[in-house]
Amino acid sequence: MARATRTVFWENHKVMLIDQRLLPGQFVVTGFDSVATVAAAIRDMVVRGAPAIGATGAYGMALAAHVSPATDRDGLLRDLREAKAMLDAARPTAVNLSWATARMVELAEHTAPSNDDGLRRALLAEADAIADEDVAINRRMGFYGAELIQDGANVLHHCNTGALATVDFGTALGVIYACAEQGKRIHVWVDETRPRLQGARLTAWELMRAGIPMHLIADNAAGHLMRTGQVDAVIFGADRVAANGDVANKIGTYKLAVVARENAIPVYAVAPTSTVDLDVADGDQIPIEERGAEEVTHIDGVVIAPLGAPVYNPAFDVTPHRYLTAIVTEEGVCYPPFDASLRRAKVTAEARVHENRLQRDKKL
Ligand code: MRU
Repeated sequence: MARATRTVFWENHKVMLIDQRLLPGQFVVTGFDSVATVAAAIRDMVVRGAPAIGATGAYGMALAAHVSPATDRDGLLRDLREAKAMLDAARPTAVNLSWATARMVELAEHTAPSNDDGLRRALLAEADAIADEDVAINRRMGFYGAELIQDGANVLHHCNTGALATVDFGTALGVIYACAEQGKRIHVWVDETRPRLQGARLTAWELMRAGIPMHLIADNAAGHLMRTGQVDAVIFGADRVAANGDVANKIGTYKLAVVARENAIPVYAVAPTSTVDLDVADGDQIPIEERGAEEVTHIDGVVIAPLGAPVYNPAFDVTPHRYLTAIVTEEGVCYPPFDASLRRAKVTAEARVHENRLQRDKKL
């Protein structure tokens, strides 16, 4: 997909983000020049989507080093750890955020440059590497995932998992883009995805720009479509995948997976290994973010509920692994038993990151 710019990038000493709150009405890219404002941008969902949040966290760490007044390595490390705590707290469910900030701290602790300026440059190079790897990983997931989708398929998609949810190309939507590139004729049922409407605002916008046939549906229409034979596959991304394959994703995903099983429709989660958290045994241990009441009581500033109505607004739910047909990663398609297949994918991916870093260090 041709895109003028990435969702997140570094320019003129700032973290640049497409402001996704303004889409589809306006396309605005804004620069953030402090760790506090980057953390606020993540929390307020200027940028959202697990891999995009991860890359933003990495650039936030590079920024922390850049603005730090520290003149020695110890001082810089102290500021980096503080920045990590602030960034990680911005959104708790998507593990890509703490994965990326941990990778930056780890680099700072072990990297060769001994002076603080060398370290600052190495951190920016690492953030760039995380962003570049994300695009390459999405391409690979697209390749593997496309094998699972037949020409002519009607695919039901939840939330936004496209270029906007990543640095570019996307996870589950990346699979759709890969199918389209291969000439497969795919039609997408786009869940609007209440309460924040990432499907209506962002996925519909991306698919229409890409010229991929789609219909926007109210979330409540999904069950009817599945029961009446109009859906061949359900596909979505993930914010965190537990070691046993349970998947935390945008609220409403669980309901889709259960109805898909009832109707013998395959269910695919598409997620990079940076979303797989082997430290979490199952979905019950994944923290579920709760967001503000206004997301439910208002749409675009318009009140749609009685003033003061009590609201409960969990942003994610957990789909138990038994409802998943497969999890697509950049290391290939993982099938049950997921604890073994995900572990294998994670090990291979970590070896690849290590090898890439060695190659980069040789060039520096
Ligand atoms: O609250 P959001 O918009 O950040 O939620 C995003 C999702 O739930 C996506 O499906 C998920 O991050 C995986 S897509 C890359």
